[in-house]
Amino acid sequence: MESILFVCLGNICRSPTAKAVFDYKLQQAGLSPLTDSAGTTGYHQGNPPDPRAIRAASEWGVDISGERARIVTVEDFTRFERIYAMDRSNLADLHDRMPAGAGARVELLMKLAPDYGIDEVPDPYYGGDEGFRRVLDMLETAADRLIEELRASTRS
Ligand code: 4NP
Repeated sequence: MESILFVCLGNICRSPTAKAVFDYKLQQAGLSPLTDSAGTTGYHQGNPPDPRAIRAASEWGVDISGERARIVTVEDFTRFERIYAMDRSNLADLHDRMPAGAGARVELLMKLAPDYGIDEVPDPYYGGDEGFRRVLDMLETAADRLIEELRASTRS
């Protein structure tokens, strides 16, 4: 089974929410890959998720209050088979840090769900609760598409 790392800027809004939504959906689908989340910056290292992210996740049905922020490490590029960046800036930072020869597949998360029509999960940090709810909607769609992809690949 795959291992997946979700990456955003601060690791307190989008990526801890992504981990929780994917864990929930994948488990419902009978799948249990190793997952984690990290940030490209360490500004919030050791902190719990943003209270707005905790609230939006809780309304959606998952508890992310126990998550703690950490920064992406060099080891992540060998520990995880897939690394999903929330936006292009995260993706560029990951490419800059990826060691030569590391095998991880590093891409934008929303590449999983081109039908959604938006290829970046927007940073909700400077907005209101609506932005956090939108993040959850995008993550849910992306998780559904990954499950479809994994099911299709085990069938073929
Ligand atoms: P995240 O959101 O990358 O989804 O965790 C942010 C968190 C913190 C900041 C920006 C975005 N910040 O500027 O501190």
